[in-house]
Amino acid sequence: MDFREKIAALKEQKRAVILAHYYTSAEVQQVADFVGDSLALSQKAAGVDADIILFAGVRFMAETAKVLSPDKKVLLPVTEAGCSLADSCDAAELAKARRENPDHLVVSYVNTSVEVKALTDICCTSSNALDIIGALPKDQKILFVPDRNLGSYINRCMERDMKLWNGCCLVHEEFSVEKIAALKALHPKAVVLVHPECKPEVVAMADYAGSTAGILAYCGREDVEEVIVVTESGILYEMESRYPNKKFYLVEPEKSSEKCVSCKDMKLVTLENIYQTLLEESPEVIIDEEIRAAAEGAIRRMLEMS
Ligand code: 13P
Ligand code: SF4
Repeated sequence: MDFREKIAALKEQKRAVILAHYYTSAEVQQVADFVGDSLALSQKAAGVDADIILFAGVRFMAETAKVLSPDKKVLLPVTEAGCSLADSCDAAELAKARRENPDHLVVSYVNTSVEVKALTDICCTSSNALDIIGALPKDQKILFVPDRNLGSYINRCMERDMKLWNGCCLVHEEFSVEKIAALKALHPKAVVLVHPECKPEVVAMADYAGSTAGILAYCGREDVEEVIVVTESGILYEMESRYPNKKFYLVEPEKSSEKCVSCKDMKLVTLENIYQTLLEESPEVIIDEEIRAAAEGAIRRMLEMS
């Protein structure tokens, strides 16, 4: 039996489901029961009928699943699979910022630790950020955590003046105006689809900016034949599966000699470690109940508004 067959057998035997993000490798997405963006994955985690959720992604995503499904066993194949964006906001620093800004509502991107979510009033993802902020009164002061790029994108779109945490995704920071412009010169008909975690000057080049699910939906438009993909390269698998007759161009990183921009943490998940994790039912995500309950409020508020 190969790993795919062994994983399928274990899933059935243990009533387990695999949730995967679009940035994981193609072979991981192929064994998943559900692949989605951060919002869809958290909605799925909240409602899925299973005893075990194996999260093929990074730690903050598996934590969100555990927060929403505390009675299920949530497994994360690689404990070290982190996120530079989540790491850019420390809970103790946020607690201090809250004390210094008592009149500000804290809105956190879901790319945060569970401890940061526990100090958050409302979470958001890149799918619903504009709706969530748009639903808050215009005079409400907001501290937006931790992505300065997504935060400044929201400020520009919604004419807000949110105070921004100085964090970023080191993967999306690798996109540069020069490399995208060079690709656009080669493929002038291609639309530029950008994740808002990119720098403002990169987002300014976008025909469309949005979450991974939003970008995928835009690729489905009849008038779109060629796409310059300005987000992590794992999304190419879903793009080519959905739209085999369209052309997709990946952008080289600004500084390294790699062919495309890749999140090494997302790529830590493999078929082999999925199999081992399901077999041993470990590593399991365990969260202190007080922190979990506090984080749940912030995530549930987001889900109610989505
Ligand atoms: P979305 O899939 O919600 O757009 O998130 C992108 C991301 O960077 C997840 O780590
Ligand atoms: Fe975090 Fe960026 Fe990787 Fe997404 S792509 S998991 S935001 S480091």
